[in-house]
Amino acid sequence: MRVCVIGTGYVGLVTGVCLSHLGHDVICVDNNEEKVKLMQSGQTPIFEPGLSELMHSSMESSRLHFTTDLGKGVSHGEILFIAVGTPPLPTGESDTRYVEAVAKGIGEHLNGGYKVIVNKSTVPIGSGDWVRMIVLDGVAERQQVKVTASSSREEISAAFDVVSNPEFLREGSAVYDTFNPDRIVLGGNSDRAIAMMTELYEPLIQRQAAEDKSLPPVPLVVTDLSSAEMIKYAANAFLATKISFINEVANICDRVGADVTQVARGIGLDSRIGNKFLQAGIGWGGSCFPKDVSALVHTADDYNYEAQLLKSTIEVNRRQRLSAVEKLQQELKILKGKTVGLLGLTFKPNTDDMRDAPALDIIAQLSRLGAKVKAYDPIVAQSGMRHGLSDVIVETDPERLADGCDALVLVTDWKEFADLDFAKMASLMNNPVAIDGRNFLNRDKLESAGFRYIGIGR
Ligand SMILES: NC(=O)c1ccc[n+]([C@@H]2O[C@H](COP(=O)([O-])OP(=O)(O)OC[C@H]3O[C@@H](n4cnc5c(N)ncnc54)[C@H](O)[C@@H]3O)[C@@H](O)[C@H]2O)c1
Repeated sequence: MRVCVIGTGYVGLVTGVCLSHLGHDVICVDNNEEKVKLMQSGQTPIFEPGLSELMHSSMESSRLHFTTDLGKGVSHGEILFIAVGTPPLPTGESDTRYVEAVAKGIGEHLNGGYKVIVNKSTVPIGSGDWVRMIVLDGVAERQQVKVTASSSREEISAAFDVVSNPEFLREGSAVYDTFNPDRIVLGGNSDRAIAMMTELYEPLIQRQAAEDKSLPPVPLVVTDLSSAEMIKYAANAFLATKISFINEVANICDRVGADVTQVARGIGLDSRIGNKFLQAGIGWGGSCFPKDVSALVHTADDYNYEAQLLKSTIEVNRRQRLSAVEKLQQELKILKGKTVGLLGLTFKPNTDDMRDAPALDIIAQLSRLGAKVKAYDPIVAQSGMRHGLSDVIVETDPERLADGCDALVLVTDWKEFADLDFAKMASLMNNPVAIDGRNFLNRDKLESAGFRYIGIGR
């Protein structure tokens, strides 16, 4: 099928690349010229395992193109994905201005046959109908007529339908997740649009590119627009709450002398609970959980409902991010004049995304308390990115990081951190203390290398 994906970030680019790999004919549109040039030259602007290889092969077989020309994308696609960012506003609401600009632009270029406009961006509940209205406004603007008569609106609206198709991929395993989804959610009220989306996803549903092809077809959840939009928020709010829950348990474990890793194992084996998202640590972050939980709280507020549980989920997380600093204070007492080394900066491993990473709060708090902060992160060292890192000395390897430190804090559980030369690192430090902010390192290994090991809730 002919597909246009508008917005080539973590979601849009991965969606475009994976759909072209499945045999669809895809044009990706972005208004960032530099990014488009980079992609046209075969390079990916983001780090995501497996993405670059798939992108090359789809480009070589001419099933994947990149452009800044929205008109070209709109006339190409039978299915138009909106995958631009919806970052948080200071109030906690989603900033939907990029979705609005794209919807208007689609309207301005809409012509030819019937199209399905797909909200893949995470958008506030009710956005399906809102996008329809903006597209119609765009059409009216192009025609330079005010579409007020209901008949002319009906005529134009017959040319397209809006579907909500929330995205559940995880950064760091986005390609894998796209080919191996737990479910596909489609929200809308047009049978024709849902049928086209089902056809588009048929190869995924039948697990054509899945790791385990013997699994039954991917479940398809077909529902109304608002329920589809709510499914995305509810999923992220639940996962964030699960992490905040185990972090709260970890804080109690710290005080009573229990080990949260044992507790998590003991409760996670209960099939009603499950073992995922039960790793205690310094909290959740990234581009999705913080903004999506806040946006849901905000929506509830708009409807005169105080989402107390979700507010607590956010508050527990805010405090949890600073628990590593509290542990440093307990250990080193005065932080002024001390040097702290952070192992990892990104909000989780295998991504280069620093949006709302816990590291940023830890750096700000340590700097406020007068500590010197150094950091080593494999992807930051590789890419040289420095966004938001003005208060940190970024080192190029773990040993340079350890040199002269009074303590290390593991912030991101990059796999390679499990096998560092800890004896060498301890010998380079003023004071070999390690705060394991993800309960990821091997305590015995660190202790025999000469470290004092401090985990979260153990
Ligand atoms: N990142 C994730 O893990 C993830 C997972 C699920 C859902 N989501 C949701 O998907 C959406 C996209 O997230 P992302 O992380 O991919 O965003 P992103 O910020 O990485 O990418 C957005 C892209 O849209 C482009 N863009 C902005 N305005 C545009 C316009 N008018 N025309 C063309 N391109 C434009 C930007 O240049 C950028 O390349 C968000 O709503 C997010 O909440 C993200």
